[in-house]
Amino acid sequence: MPDATVDAWTEARGRHWDLEDDWSDLWVADADGSIVGYVQVDAARLANIWIAPAAQGQGLGKRLLDLAETVIQRRGHKQARLEVFVGNDRAQAFYESRGWAEVGRDTYELAGHPVPGIVMVKDLPQD
Ligand SMILES: CC(C)(COP(=O)(O)OP(=O)(O)OC[C@H]1O[C@@H](n2cnc3c(N)ncnc32)[C@H](O)[C@@H]1OP(=O)(O)O)[C@@H](O)C(=O)NCCC(=O)NCCS
Repeated sequence: MPDATVDAWTEARGRHWDLEDDWSDLWVADADGSIVGYVQVDAARLANIWIAPAAQGQGLGKRLLDLAETVIQRRGHKQARLEVFVGNDRAQAFYESRGWAEVGRDTYELAGHPVPGIVMVKDLPQD
């Protein structure tokens, strides 16, 4: 992703995070009282997942992704959906290892900059 896009995004998030985001469907992972990760869902969509760099590779992402999929499935959705930026190979490989598959490409606007993205879905088991 170009540096200008990252800078503009960081600037915009710093100013508007608290005002614009709906935090009602957000879960955090904590370690000794510090937040080390979070996941957020929006209807059938995995909106965000993030694990602090020092806590990555220890299974936390897997646990939060499982939680998000369970929430989406229990709310009656047969399929979950997400977008990942082209070039975020680690996240893409992580999703693929958890049964997600690419179904298309799209372009997203990030702080006024176009960014190419990959659309992924996962069919969820029905009770
Ligand atoms: C992507 C991310 C959420 C993964 O979380 P994590 O805690 O590091 O991942 P986990 O330790 O739970 O890994 C779970 C599984 O994913 C797979 N996996 C993780 N990283 C992988 C990689 N680089 N390549 C291939 N598979 C990978 C493994 O199969 C692993 O299973 P294992 O325990 O059998 O090895 C985390 O790296 C992150 O927060 N990245 C920065 C933010 C981001 O890119 N979010 C996604 C935005 S769309």
